[in-house]
Amino acid sequence: MISFPQFQEIVIDELKRDIRPEMNPDQHRAISAPQDESQFIVAGPGSGKTTVMVLKILKFIYVDDVNPGSILATTFTRKAAAELRSRILSWGDIIRQKLLSDNNDLEKDLRHLDFNQIVTGTLDSICEEVLKNHRDPGSPPPVVVEDFVARAMMMRVGLFTEERHHNEELREYLINIRGGKFGFNTAEMSRLLLEIKDRVYYDQVLWEEFKSKGDEPGVEIACQAIEDYIHEFEERMLFDFSLLEAHFLDKLNEGKLGSFMEGLKLVLVDEYLM
Ligand SMILES: Nc1ncnc2c1ncn2[C@@H]1O[C@H](COP(=O)(O)OP(=O)(O)OP(=O)(O)O)[C@@H](O)[C@H]1O
Ligand SMILES: [Mg+2]
Repeated sequence: MISFPQFQEIVIDELKRDIRPEMNPDQHRAISAPQDESQFIVAGPGSGKTTVMVLKILKFIYVDDVNPGSILATTFTRKAAAELRSRILSWGDIIRQKLLSDNNDLEKDLRHLDFNQIVTGTLDSICEEVLKNHRDPGSPPPVVVEDFVARAMMMRVGLFTEERHHNEELREYLINIRGGKFGFNTAEMSRLLLEIKDRVYYDQVLWEEFKSKGDEPGVEIACQAIEDYIHEFEERMLFDFSLLEAHFLDKLNEGKLGSFMEGLKLVLVDEYLM
């Protein structure tokens, strides 16, 4: 729609972010890169990473004519995701207004631009939304529970069953993992079991390896608690966050998210955590 130098000028004049190569060479390089160049940006706190991500998205739209609906932008907390979205919408609109006021040839293109089509949210909220829109006919939408519900469920189904919360071998095993007895209680046992589940359950190899340590009696009981928990979620068709991600991956591997995947061209992640 416009050239990169035009885009850069508007960013500097209207958004007051100086991205000239002589001022901010790294930001300039990151923002001006072509859409088929993958980038992994590592930079210190407050150095302008989120700014770069938002400007890259706007550059793809205004300079490379990428359809907003084919861009997915995600980050790790709901607050950050909401800020990301509002930053994209507000800067996107400032650039649009500027172009409208200067240049009437672009009016038709600019009126059609819909920044709301950009897929934003946390990874979890995006998974939930996509699964809701791509479920098998007749099946219900996924119901995702918050962490505190998952912990209560692990307590009820995993720990109170057969009074596992009183089991000395399980307690000893969990205290060992935790590295101390101070503050150890049933809620803490539930939290630790969920942590083990999240770390090893989805990796079949890790899970088998973990289970094979079952000659340690505490491990065997931990496995039973985790399996009872998973079974309960399956029966009730509920998901916690990691079950949701695993379900998403299954659907992806089965090729059932086709129309969503085909529409996507660019994926940007802020605050990637290893
Ligand atoms: N080129 C620029 N010109 C002027 N201000 C800038 C520029 N780049 C970033 N800033 C400002 O610097 C501040 C920090 O930027 P930003 O939030 O993008 O950094 P960050 O690396 O994402 O930070 P964090 O590590 O906290 O996530 C913001 O106020 C932003 O507007
Ligand atoms: Mg940031």
